[in-house]
Amino acid sequence: MKKWLYVFFMGLIGFSSHIVKAEDNDMSEKKVLVAYFSATGTTAKVAERLALAVHGDLFEIKPKEAYTDADLDWRDKTSRSSVEMADKSSRPEISSQVDDMAQYNVVFIGFPIWWYREPSIIDTFMESYDFTGKSIIPFATSGGSGMGDSSEIMQSLAPDAKVYEGKRFASNVSEETLKDWADTFLMK
Ligand SMILES: Cc1cc2nc3c(=O)[nH]c(=O)nc-3n(C[C@H](O)[C@H](O)[C@H](O)COP(=O)(O)O)c2cc1C
Repeated sequence: MKKWLYVFFMGLIGFSSHIVKAEDNDMSEKKVLVAYFSATGTTAKVAERLALAVHGDLFEIKPKEAYTDADLDWRDKTSRSSVEMADKSSRPEISSQVDDMAQYNVVFIGFPIWWYREPSIIDTFMESYDFTGKSIIPFATSGGSGMGDSSEIMQSLAPDAKVYEGKRFASNVSEETLKDWADTFLMK
């Protein structure tokens, strides 16, 4: 009788440890953050849709000093955005902070393409956290340009993360399209 009890409990332990392992390997257990900067609201809408699609938390990268229309005038070489983007070391301040970045495995980072790459405030964000071991997936909206060198630059600023080549989306991209795209990373 005692022997049977022993066999029963050993079986139970073996069974439960197997279940724990299966859960560890379950990709749906990944905790996802969708962080974004948006100067005029276009990227914000795509980010909101993406967060819904991946059941992720949503975080807005808010500049300490909001960008005015004059700041965003790309035809004016002296506008704030022109000056910042001409200086690779520019790091505009962020007024908001992610609560406990350590809890996330996957971080989607959204932004408008400025001068064929990520805005400088994204560089500030990349240097603000420890992304060691995390997967980072950039996404963007634009007037038509692709991602340019965004992911390479972001990788250089967070060398201990894995920064994937991201994707530029049209402003009206559907939640379904975003989900299909995001799933290719969440299944990795
Ligand atoms: C300073 C500045 C530079 C831009 N540079 C580009 C560019 O190089 N290529 C492009 O296709 N669109 C460019 N755009 C357009 C934005 O990428 C586009 O309007 C984007 O969807 C805006 O997103 P938001 O509303 O989230 O800020 C630029 C816009 C600004 C303000």
